[in-house]
Amino acid sequence: MEHLQVLDSRTGKSYKIPIDNGYIRAADISKINIQDRNIVNGTENEPSISRGLRILDTGYQNTACVESSITFIDGYRGIIRYRDFNIEQLFQNYVYEDVMHLLIWGHLPTEAEKDHVRAGISHAMNPPESVVKVISSFPRDTETMPMILAGMSAFAAADETVCATRHTQKAMFQGRLDVADAALVRTIGYLAATTALIYCHKNDRDFVPPEPSKSLLGNLLWMMGVSQENPKVEECLNKLWILYADHEITNSTAAVLHAGSTLTDPVSAVMSGVICGYGPLHGGAIDLAYEALVTIGKPEHVPYFIEGVKRGKGRLFGYGHRIYKTRDPRLSLIEELMGRYKEEMNANPLIQVSLAIDKYASQDPYFIERNLKANADLMGCFLYTAMGFDPEMITAIAMVSRCTGALAHWRESLTQPVKLWRPLQKYVAPLAN
Ligand code: ACO
Repeated sequence: MEHLQVLDSRTGKSYKIPIDNGYIRAADISKINIQDRNIVNGTENEPSISRGLRILDTGYQNTACVESSITFIDGYRGIIRYRDFNIEQLFQNYVYEDVMHLLIWGHLPTEAEKDHVRAGISHAMNPPESVVKVISSFPRDTETMPMILAGMSAFAAADETVCATRHTQKAMFQGRLDVADAALVRTIGYLAATTALIYCHKNDRDFVPPEPSKSLLGNLLWMMGVSQENPKVEECLNKLWILYADHEITNSTAAVLHAGSTLTDPVSAVMSGVICGYGPLHGGAIDLAYEALVTIGKPEHVPYFIEGVKRGKGRLFGYGHRIYKTRDPRLSLIEELMGRYKEEMNANPLIQVSLAIDKYASQDPYFIERNLKANADLMGCFLYTAMGFDPEMITAIAMVSRCTGALAHWRESLTQPVKLWRPLQKYVAPLAN
């Protein structure tokens, strides 16, 4: 086996650290240790403590926290594969519902499997009165994200299994995939129904009850009353959502797994993911990218704006990515989709501003030297606005598409040994004694 030969200059000892497919284990690093002599008031007290070496990695920039078989990303070559299907192949030949099954259950669905899951999700989409009351109690112009959390909390409070999770001695879902699948399906339904209720409340529309024969996306748009008015929306999102369905261990998916590692229920775990998902550096970048376009207003104002970013006036949202050191592979598929809806796209003059940003930034040394390229959030918002959605609903709708990928990871975690996620810190302040 390949290994790392380590010589510890503190002790003169050498260690062989096994390398498995490019990874070493932090547990092996902890075997590199030093006897810490326990000295108090100048006297050495027994016993001395053996302290293993630790790794400091602020922001998890080079640390894997999970082994997974769901999504493969090569950020240098610009490759995304779901369950070993190329994203391009899935985008061209399938719709979101197929991909959702592929991610969660590891295979493309049969018609019977689709029907079964549709029935479960749509059943969960019927909101209890408590959920409807919570959403309708908000002023119509309330920020969308706090409303999502309130709606999900109300759904969680009305779900007996979810509530029972906190009172059972035995893990509710670990190794019990039948119970987990039922809860996971309900969680997806809750998030979609909450999003639809908020959309209807904000736009003063009646919530349309879900239909058991419709897919997740079909029902989301149906409950909003959108697909009845414009069938193109479902056709478009059925492709766009494939690109957002999963992105391996993102900040929000990690939050779902972090919460899940406490053995909590999937609704609560997804709420953790939602909170991370709307932060400005993550999914909330969609909103900020769009707001920046509105501020810039015209393509000729782009250089002034970008020079401000370079002077530290803020970040260029929709630009840069932790994983991609090449162009985000989802962008060319988004552009292909934009080409299919040219007329609707061109109705939004801000698209020209967005194109001007990409042109200017991609030739600017600041962005070139830091390997910063456009990410999917620079353009993804336009397909939503072209389909008639207000910018304030875009992140929320995009979260429904990602929720299935995050839950695929949650389900996968249930097949692995229970291990509470508990990072370490490096304490740096002085100690008095
Ligand atoms: N605009 C301006 N400068 C940037 C940007 C940006 N968008 N992104 C990174 N930088 C600069 C940083 O200031 C830093 O410069 P320095 O070396 O002079 O200090 C350097 O590039 C490295 O930046 P980090 O923050 O260390 O890079 P990291 O990999 O941690 O950040 C991130 C990735 C958070 C996505 C970052 O590029 C960013 O803030 N982008 C804007 C927000 C955004 O679009 N997020 C969406 C990402 S996709 C998604 O999550 C759905």
